[in-house]
Amino acid sequence: MRFRTLAWKGNYLELIDQTLLPGKAVYLKCRNAEDAWKAIRTMKVRGAPAIGVAAAFGVYLGVMRLRTEDIRKFRSEFAKTAKYMASARPTARNLFSAVEAMEEVVKSFNGRSTELLKKALLKKAVEFAKQDEELCRAIGRHGAKLFKSGDCVLTHCNAGALATAGMGTALSVIYSARRAGKKIEMIASETRPFLQGARLTAWELKENGVPVTLICDSMVGSVMRAGRINRVIVGADRIAANGDTANKIGTYQVAELARIHKIPFYVAAPSTTFDFSLKTGKEIPIEVRDGKEVYQAFSRPTAPKGVRIFNPAFDVTPAHLITAIITEKGVSRPPYQKSLARFGRAASGGLKRSGLASGRARLRRG
Ligand code: MRU
Repeated sequence: MRFRTLAWKGNYLELIDQTLLPGKAVYLKCRNAEDAWKAIRTMKVRGAPAIGVAAAFGVYLGVMRLRTEDIRKFRSEFAKTAKYMASARPTARNLFSAVEAMEEVVKSFNGRSTELLKKALLKKAVEFAKQDEELCRAIGRHGAKLFKSGDCVLTHCNAGALATAGMGTALSVIYSARRAGKKIEMIASETRPFLQGARLTAWELKENGVPVTLICDSMVGSVMRAGRINRVIVGADRIAANGDTANKIGTYQVAELARIHKIPFYVAAPSTTFDFSLKTGKEIPIEVRDGKEVYQAFSRPTAPKGVRIFNPAFDVTPAHLITAIITEKGVSRPPYQKSLARFGRAASGGLKRSGLASGRARLRRG
């Protein structure tokens, strides 16, 4: 990769500011929990796995400078920071997986030194980032087998290196297949309103020498009908126990179009994205973001001032539209209730049980 999405720099977290891409590659420093929270909320760092890694470091940053030897006080400050970090965005399961992993460190620590506990928390955040890199690699390895030379693959949003600490999920599959010598080209849909496809996927693929053509979201159906797309691959923000998958708004209609045109539709995601506490996708909380992103996306107004706007950031693709889910453990096929069960309890929504994240079906203001 010619860029680094996020990196721990000893006492701060460095992130590439994704709101400035593709124009400028500016790296910003998160020095405390608020910096990390804001970077996640304003989508300077985005993509479920990258959000998770940023949150793990964000939680650590929140307690890094605490000067107390009182372990009870430390635990209570930690709990506040964890809750705060979990409120940054509601849909990506990885954010909660990360905060839970950090919580587990505090829960299982039975020493008395707060300095040692801090060290253990930093170690966990670093491990969480490393694990994400490995998960991406494994997803790439398993998924590459499903693709062949000559494939023209549509992807929606950005599930690449910019969305993870590694090579990406959906795009890791493509990088891996191309490394194996398969000649694959990509079509990126622009992904209104935040333009992750146009600004991020097209940029990332170009940077990495992958042939890519950009289309508007509204062109997907006709380009499929013209026979120019023979596979679709996307990432995921949260996958329920039955395989229903929340991903960037617009994914659902791409999946329906793929079904109509008999094109395989693949989802690539690590186990940190699964939420077995939710039976179906109906329970996945969907973030609703500020209408400004729709009527004033990055430039001058593109709609009349004051017009009512609805801006849900994600939608849910029902499991029956998904040909296969590619994970670090291999390729899962329907029925997902059964094939995903091997991920077991590790992927259950612990925060939901502890009250930090509600799994109720709802739309939430971003
Ligand atoms: O709002 P975003 O940009 O965070 O949404 C990102 C997506 O929907 C991605 O497709 C998903 O997180 C998978 S990233 C590997």
